[in-house]
Amino acid sequence: MGHSRIPDLRYLFTLSVTPSTFGPISPQIQVYIDSLEVMKTLIIDHPLVSAKLTTLRDKNTDTPTFRKLVEELVTLLSYEATRHLLVEETEVETPITKTKGFVIAKPKPIVVPILRAGLGMLDGMMRILPGAEVGFLGMVRDETTLQPTTYAERIPGEIKNRQVFVLDPMLATGGTLVAAIKLLIDRGARDVVAICLLAAPEGIKNVENAFGSDVNVTVVCAGLDEKLNEVGYIVPGLGDAGDRLYGTAD
Ligand code: URA
Repeated sequence: MGHSRIPDLRYLFTLSVTPSTFGPISPQIQVYIDSLEVMKTLIIDHPLVSAKLTTLRDKNTDTPTFRKLVEELVTLLSYEATRHLLVEETEVETPITKTKGFVIAKPKPIVVPILRAGLGMLDGMMRILPGAEVGFLGMVRDETTLQPTTYAERIPGEIKNRQVFVLDPMLATGGTLVAAIKLLIDRGARDVVAICLLAAPEGIKNVENAFGSDVNVTVVCAGLDEKLNEVGYIVPGLGDAGDRLYGTAD
């Protein structure tokens, strides 16, 4: 089998962030992209991301491999997710001379994994942002109503004007992510980047609908799937991310 490029769809959705980079697009996709112009949505189009995501989807991938791949994927996604991280100018002395450089601005950014499955993404994120502060949100969705409830909350006291990265592997209906982002915006977060492994169009749309143009919300994910099934799982998806991370799926 020859090498192939990643399906065009992923390039097309990247268009919602960088409109001039790619070629002509179909009218249907254009309608979808137009509807996303308030909220930046970035589907990371990279061979390493696609290959790792494929192994993650495989029902035969065991828990230790799944966990390791989630970490690696998040590290790759976080490279793009932190593109607009605030920095401050500094001076550095090289062995040759002094020159200008940058450090990550204070106050430090905050990383908030949504328990349980978001916890599996934390180490991958902290690898590239070791100085970040970490908060926790415990949310569970009722499997019948699909509505989220918050059962634990440990967010740093002062988040006003700070950049927040929310970790939640599966953007399915969007209910949990919307509730989490609302809580953070209400506390004064300057902007919120949600890092997900997989998203369903329904979830992206719900997050988009929930926030006005004055709120700076970005979703970064490794793949945009077809749809949700009748019980709110992403199709084709990868199953229950929490169960697969913590061994309850084996
Ligand atoms: N949560 C998951 O873990 N998987 C899905 O497909 C949807 C929600």
